[in-house]
Amino acid sequence: MRIAVLRGGRSAERDVSLRSGAQVEEALRKRGHDVTGIDLDLNTWDVLRDGNFACVFNALHGRLGEDGTVQGMLELLALPYTGSGVLASALCMDKARANAVMAGAGLHVPEFEELELKQGMSADTVERLVSHFGLPLVIKPVREGSTIGLTIARDADQVASGLVLAARYDRRVLVQRFAAGTEITVGVLATPDLQVLPTLEIVSDNPVYDYDAKYTAGKSHHIIPARIPEAARAAASEAAGRAFTVLGCSGMGRVDIIVDAGGTPWLLELNTVPGLTALSLLPDAARAAGIGFDDLCQRLVDHAIGRHQHHVGPPAE
Ligand SMILES: Nc1ncnc2c1ncn2[C@@H]1O[C@H](COP(=O)(O)OP(=O)(O)O)[C@@H](O)[C@H]1O
Ligand SMILES: [Mg+2]
Repeated sequence: MRIAVLRGGRSAERDVSLRSGAQVEEALRKRGHDVTGIDLDLNTWDVLRDGNFACVFNALHGRLGEDGTVQGMLELLALPYTGSGVLASALCMDKARANAVMAGAGLHVPEFEELELKQGMSADTVERLVSHFGLPLVIKPVREGSTIGLTIARDADQVASGLVLAARYDRRVLVQRFAAGTEITVGVLATPDLQVLPTLEIVSDNPVYDYDAKYTAGKSHHIIPARIPEAARAAASEAAGRAFTVLGCSGMGRVDIIVDAGGTPWLLELNTVPGLTALSLLPDAARAAGIGFDDLCQRLVDHAIGRHQHHVGPPAE
């Protein structure tokens, strides 16, 4: 099969995507496919239109890749592609709106507020946020990933500088209550049947599970299943599956969760194109469930093609 692997692109997660793409290309080649890696740019439309590809594997992370834009392009080109469609991709990239949907479905989401930082922020704003959310509090850009632009602020000065930092990445900034507990992530596959992968606990050498901890070998460790009570594991798995469903995702996803001392899963986000590098979380969880990386990639491709064939277009005039 001729398969295009989209990777790279222009987002802040470009380097991670190049690594994810390289792994995916290798896996699909091992499966005997004719694989073309494509670094997303303005020529990509022509390359995909003329390339005679049976499927596109989307290994783009972050904006202009994971956020519905590329999915829209692939819909217009009528090419089968892996992962979620336009709506779920766009929704999950927007942490404020995804949080609202998850909370509306009765899932636990740490209390949050969205700020629009157009003309800087006043000392009053900082004071109000500290008194409302307490310290530490979390500040992040609404539409970013890989912990880029994120601050866990422990005093008012850090709140002020954290707001400025987040606003460098997105004028829409999310301020959120800090959730204390065990950091886990739960992979979900739906190709098409929903399968929640084993819980994976993340132990990071850095105080925050940041970019460095995520992508430097040896700086974080994965423990499967998470070292939390069985009931908490079940609650987190159930919450991850529900989040995937209410956000309308397809193919694969990975839900980041903090499990508190009482066993409540606090949902942070759902990644629609989770990392697929050698150090990544979802491939590890899949392996623990008996699904090797090559098999995972193949399943996603098969699902993309099956979904495309069953797609019912608008009625003919
Ligand atoms: N409300 C929160 N409470 C505690 N820790 C948080 C919170 N939000 C984010 N974090 C920490 O920051 C990391 C990144 O946040 P996340 O919302 O997953 O965004 P992204 O991974 O897209 O940058 C999390 O893995 C977690 O370690
Ligand atoms: Mg995350």
